[in-house]
This record gives sequence, structure tokens and C-alpha cells, in this order.
Amino acid sequence: MSPLSSLSLVPHSSASTLDEIAALREQLSQNGRKFVLTNGVFDLLHVGHIRYLAEARALGDALVVAINSDESTRALKGPGRPIHPAADRAEMLLALRSVDRVVVFDGRRATEVIAAIRPHLYVKGGDYTPETLIDEEKALLDRLGTEIRILSLTPGQSSSATLARINAADAKQSTEPPSSRPRLAILGSGRGSNARAILSAVADGRIDAEIAVVICDVPNAGIFDIAAEYGLPTLLIDPGTKKHGHLTDAALKELTDRLAALSIDVIACAGFMRILREPLLSRFSGRILNLHPSLLPKFPGLHTAERALEAGETESGCTVHLIDAGIDTGPILKQARVPILADDTADSLMTRIHEAEHRCYPEAIAEFLTRLRAEKTSNSGENSIPD
Ligand code: GAR
Repeated sequence: MSPLSSLSLVPHSSASTLDEIAALREQLSQNGRKFVLTNGVFDLLHVGHIRYLAEARALGDALVVAINSDESTRALKGPGRPIHPAADRAEMLLALRSVDRVVVFDGRRATEVIAAIRPHLYVKGGDYTPETLIDEEKALLDRLGTEIRILSLTPGQSSSATLARINAADAKQSTEPPSSRPRLAILGSGRGSNARAILSAVADGRIDAEIAVVICDVPNAGIFDIAAEYGLPTLLIDPGTKKHGHLTDAALKELTDRLAALSIDVIACAGFMRILREPLLSRFSGRILNLHPSLLPKFPGLHTAERALEAGETESGCTVHLIDAGIDTGPILKQARVPILADDTADSLMTRIHEAEHRCYPEAIAEFLTRLRAEKTSNSGENSIPD
């Protein structure tokens, strides 16, 4: 094998073109070298990125980082991002020992870059699994015979969490009166991927609200780790001794009192697997949102993916609705549809539904808050929230 230096792996300080990267790939390929690609926004570097990129680089002989253009970052993360423009992000990444080349791409997906570069190894981090990669990207990688590796991220390290900590520190130092943004409580029982999507949208400014508390009924549930990552207060409620899916009267009263004491304006249930009843419903009437993994009114309740498959449906999705006294019956605020594919299992369908949920729920919350604010402006109704 030729030494790497003779393969034009000389350091760069600005982004390369796709053609330049494709040429480098050919050169490496001919010399039996392994070419690694990863992609992301990378607009607020933190130690999690540094470790992730070092690990990715160690898996091959050259690492190319494809970064979203400023426009595609705005489309993905909201108008407040990127924190740093693409040229600066490229320069910072290229200053790292682990990064050999940076290329900037448009659009939400990295498919064009993957197709042009045909990496030997594609690396992703975080919540992804080979099964949860975007279908389009996964199909292309399979076609190209590209190996896929998912690297675990450093807990507590993400750009959104960093932004949230900066905002929290700013708020603490500020001499301004306390935030007048609506106060949200997130309720969950599980891993909290939708809580993460909401928190990320708040950090990016896509949702204009303050998360006052994250509440969960299951000790050690993943949602607690996510709340800790974002530096948020948490509360474990004891559901009492009622059977699964229910809360005792005492638990409901405690939950209601706690939410009221925290001056909560809106409650967002994100995988909270308990039925909410009085006195909570009246106290927060018209301000409790729920996310459900089906196209309601079809398949309320549990095991929605299995039931959609059994019923021979051709599409499924998720629904954001207001909670009323029924089970998954309240007024629908927003839905997102996903196709059901011939070879779908309940797991593969749920994976697709989760992806839709992570986009749909933050959007629905943002739209709901905008509507509440507008209602407050036009009449000082009882569902008003601070503006
Ligand atoms: C989500 O799929 C949500 O739709 C579902 O729980 C999951 C929570 O996942 N909610 C319900 O089934 C409510 N009836 P998460 O903890 O990863 O956000």
C-alpha cells in the first residue's frame, strides 16, 4: 500500500467539492484503503462530537464529514440554526485530527452525497439503528454494498442540550422578569424519544415555550436521562396500586396539584401510558395534548401497529389530539401518514411511525401554542397563556 501522504490526504482548511471527494475515494479504493463517511449539522461542536469523529476515523483510513448547508440546517432545525455558517463549520471540523475532508450538501437527506462518494463505511450516531436509518438512505447504502456502523453518543452531549444549558444559564443570570413564555410539562413513561424531539425543538426555537418539568410514572425510565441531559427538573409520580394504565385518585390529585403549583399552561403527553381523569381534565381543560401511534379514530388503545397490519391497512401514522374523557377520542390537531409496506413487521412499521412522530409532534405543539396565543389576543378566554 502507498503511504497515505502520497494519496493527497494533505490537510485542507475549507470544504471540498463532491467531485474532489469522489476522486479521492477512487484513489483510496485503488490502494485498498477504507473510506468512511458521516454526516450531520455540526454547528455547535462539543466533546461528544470530538469523540464520535475520532471513533469514526479509527474505523478506516480517511474520514469525510458531509455537513448540511445553512439552508438545509434551517429547514431541519429551525430559523435560529445553524449557530455557525457552513464555511466556519468546515474550517473547525477540518482542524480536528480525525477529519480529513468536509463537503457541504443541500437538502434534508445525505443520499446525493452517498451516491456520489460511495463510501466503504457509513457511520451514524445516536438513536439510530441500521433499521431506523431513513429508508431512502438505507436502500441506497444496501445497493452500494456500504457497511453501516452506528456509534453510541456520549450521554449528556448534544448540540440541543448544549443550547438548552446556555439558555438556562442566561435565564439564571438575567435581571429580566421571569420568562413569559408558556410553561409546558412533558409526561412520559418510556424511553422518551418524543420528549427528546420536543426538547430539541424548544432549544432550536421551533417551539416557543419553557419546559417547566418532565414527569414520569416509571422509575429509571429513559425519559429521565433525557431530562437530565437538558438540565430539566423531573418528577416521579407514584401511580398507586391500580392496575396498569390507570392512576389512583390520590395520584391524580397529586399530579394535578403539582402541575398547578408549577403554573403549567400546557401538558404534552409523550408516551405517558396512564389514563388521565378528573380533577386533571377540568383543571387543564383543552390544554392537554397526546400523541398516539395510529391514524385516529382508527386503532385507539394499544398494539396499534400489529392491529393495522392485521387489518390489511395500506397506511398508518400518528395523531396529535387533545385529551378528553374518552380513550384517544379527543379533537385531532394534526396527523402524519406513513405507508405500510408489503414486508412490514410491527417493529418496522413502528420505526417508521416514530420517525413521523418526531416531526409531527413538535410541529403540532408549536401550532397549538400559536393558536392559543392568537385566541388570547382576540379574547381573554380562560384557556389563555402568557404571551
Ligand atoms: C410513542 O410511539 C407514542 O405514540 C406512544 O408511546 C410511544 C412513546 O415513545 N403513545 C401511546 O401509545 C399513547 N397511547 P417515546 O417514549 O420514545 O416517546
